[in-house]
Amino acid sequence: MKAKDKLTVSIIDDNHLGNGIAKKDDFIIFVPKTVKGDVVDIEVTSVNKNIVKAKAISNSVNSKCPYYDRCGGCNLLHVSYDREKELKRDYIKRLFKLDTDIISFDREHYRNKVTLHVIDNTVGFYEEKSNSVVSFDSCLLLDSDINNLISVLKEFDSSNINEIVIKRAYEGLLISIKGSISDIDLKELKNHVKSIYINNELVYGDEYLTIRFGDIVYNINHESFFQVNEKCANSLYDYIKEEVGSCNKLLDLYCGTGSIGIYLSNNVKKITGIEINEDSVKCAKKNIKDNNIKNYEIINADASSINEDYDVVIVDPPRSGLSMDVIDSLNNMNMKKLIYVSCNPSTLKRDISLLNNFYLKKITVFNMFPATRHIESFTVLERK
Ligand SMILES: C[S@@+](CC[C@H](N)C(=O)[O-])C[C@H]1O[C@@H](n2cnc3c(N)ncnc32)[C@H](O)[C@@H]1O
Repeated sequence: MKAKDKLTVSIIDDNHLGNGIAKKDDFIIFVPKTVKGDVVDIEVTSVNKNIVKAKAISNSVNSKCPYYDRCGGCNLLHVSYDREKELKRDYIKRLFKLDTDIISFDREHYRNKVTLHVIDNTVGFYEEKSNSVVSFDSCLLLDSDINNLISVLKEFDSSNINEIVIKRAYEGLLISIKGSISDIDLKELKNHVKSIYINNELVYGDEYLTIRFGDIVYNINHESFFQVNEKCANSLYDYIKEEVGSCNKLLDLYCGTGSIGIYLSNNVKKITGIEINEDSVKCAKKNIKDNNIKNYEIINADASSINEDYDVVIVDPPRSGLSMDVIDSLNNMNMKKLIYVSCNPSTLKRDISLLNNFYLKKITVFNMFPATRHIESFTVLERK
């Protein structure tokens, strides 16, 4: 089989990535946005040994979203929400050989942040594996205030814009534009948002807006990281809090803006947060001050700089997972419990196998990114 070959296949299974799976001779064929039971005409896009990637050319995709065929923003809208949860849960069960639950909230309008690309005056999402942009009127995953602002932006002259980030905060919207806009458009934009950054410079409104979990106020700006699905993140933080219980010394490694440590601060005597990104550290320090927290110290450093012992360590690294230096340090520390929050099951699996002095006691899936292939996991590791 080779690229551009056309054939008809029966989809015999489907997976958590949103691919239907077919077999032909010795080849296993993955066809995005198809499901078990479909019979589809496909065109082969790549062949690597016996693994074939293909696209459906006959199927009309069954989805609520009119852009789903082309848009690369999500991958699982063509299956029911129950099926999505089952696929993700079963994948994690198989990968880690441990029973798991999946915690899930709304499938639609859950995202508090969007990054839009602009090409040839078209504002939208990239097509899957392409640099073409798919324009849309409304996205099912986005917060409705963000969707409303996108309709406003579509009327603007975007010929000098490269990228737009919109975040929804408690006070209203924050927009960050890379490129330039006309004075007329800037004036109009001020009617719809609370903060405007252009090329990383604040040109209107407040530098910080906030996200609130109960009494806790988290500051966000154009650069800072915050979980995109607040209901799910809040629930994840509750699980972490319950698991940590009360302890003397806690390390919040890859702490971002300090959101986890701050959430746990009532139950812990002393918390240390380590974060490499200066903007996040600035935000974390403001969060600590604004929430009147006295027992949380933030250090602006690489995660590998850990050199003390703690009762409990929480790690929440980026998709690439832990570096070997960090793994070595964690193996040599004397804490009994290590909580690993991960947004990438593959690197989580790799890292757990390298954390020789610990075993995986518990894993729970948090469906932080419904309708997409991404999976957030909350794991508890204990010393062997
Ligand atoms: C998934 S975020 C977690 C943030 C935070 N725990 C939260 O829930 O909001 C990962 C964080 O790790 C930080 N980071 C990435 N590489 C790092 C490194 N080598 N050392 C320390 N922090 C790092 C990133 O800047 C980012 O803030």
